[in-house]
Amino acid sequence: MIVSARAPTKVTLFGEHAVVYGYPAIVLSIPEYVVVEGVRSDKFLLRSGPVYLNKLSIIIGENAIHVARDTESDLVRYFSYVLEAVRSLGLNGLEISIKSRLPVGAGLGTSAAVTVGTVAVASKIAEMNLTKKEIAKIAWEVEKKVQGKASPMDTFASALGGALYISKAGSDWNIRRLSVENLPLVIGVFRKRKTTGELVKMVNEKLKEIKVIERVLETIGEITNEALKALENKDLALLGELMNINHGLLEALGLTNKEVACAIHSLKQAGALGAKMSGAGYGGAVIALGDDLDSLVSVMRSCGAEKVLKITSLSNGVEY
Ligand code: PMV
Repeated sequence: MIVSARAPTKVTLFGEHAVVYGYPAIVLSIPEYVVVEGVRSDKFLLRSGPVYLNKLSIIIGENAIHVARDTESDLVRYFSYVLEAVRSLGLNGLEISIKSRLPVGAGLGTSAAVTVGTVAVASKIAEMNLTKKEIAKIAWEVEKKVQGKASPMDTFASALGGALYISKAGSDWNIRRLSVENLPLVIGVFRKRKTTGELVKMVNEKLKEIKVIERVLETIGEITNEALKALENKDLALLGELMNINHGLLEALGLTNKEVACAIHSLKQAGALGAKMSGAGYGGAVIALGDDLDSLVSVMRSCGAEKVLKITSLSNGVEY
């Protein structure tokens, strides 16, 4: 019997990079899904469906791992997440198929969605009755194991859905679901020119060398807290202004490139209430808030976005 789950991806609305230093962030779960299907088996088999852009098949036997993939695909990067997720639920075999139309590594949280979807599917096959929160916690542990370090932002957004305010007190993370169901947003995905690791390291080096960077990160934290109030009050004009200011500071940290700068400028000219890069930067996702979403879609395309998504409602988390 095939068991399936749909796990949503996410965008960071406020607070990326600053969140690495313990400042808060706001993340939105978006209705753009990764689909995971599983069948009980005595071996591991991971593949992707033919109708989707990325193709991957991995077979792990007792003593051997076989990986077959098309040359363009980087779905193979999900392999360790899937394997760790399956193992963490105590299963020693499973056939898993992953279907995703989104580029890997663009800051949309696809690896977290794959992890959440796999945990949901594997837990159903293992006949465990897990809640979304339990799935989120297990998926976060999987991410920490695979990456060495991970905030709960992406896994909780994918599992729980909606808009989440993430903050840190000491070494504990607090996650609060906000009462926001929709936001008129356009997301443009641009070719990413640097990795998240490189960009996090770059900010860290600047922080050590330039005293004022600490104030920049602290100010991003303050903007996130002001945005939290604007979201709760449904004040989209203020929210847009705060996105612009947050973007200005990310730009000051050196996190934009020509395509992103072009998009931000043109989106504002086309009437966006606010526009900012989202995620690690230097390409990847750009988000714009506005009334006339179709004109923002055209702007994203004309500035070179490889994929454009129009978002009018948030996702409700993993479906399984
Ligand atoms: O990998 P991305 O593009 O989702 O960005 C990660 C967000 C950072 O704040 C830059 C890093 C982090 O671990 O939170």
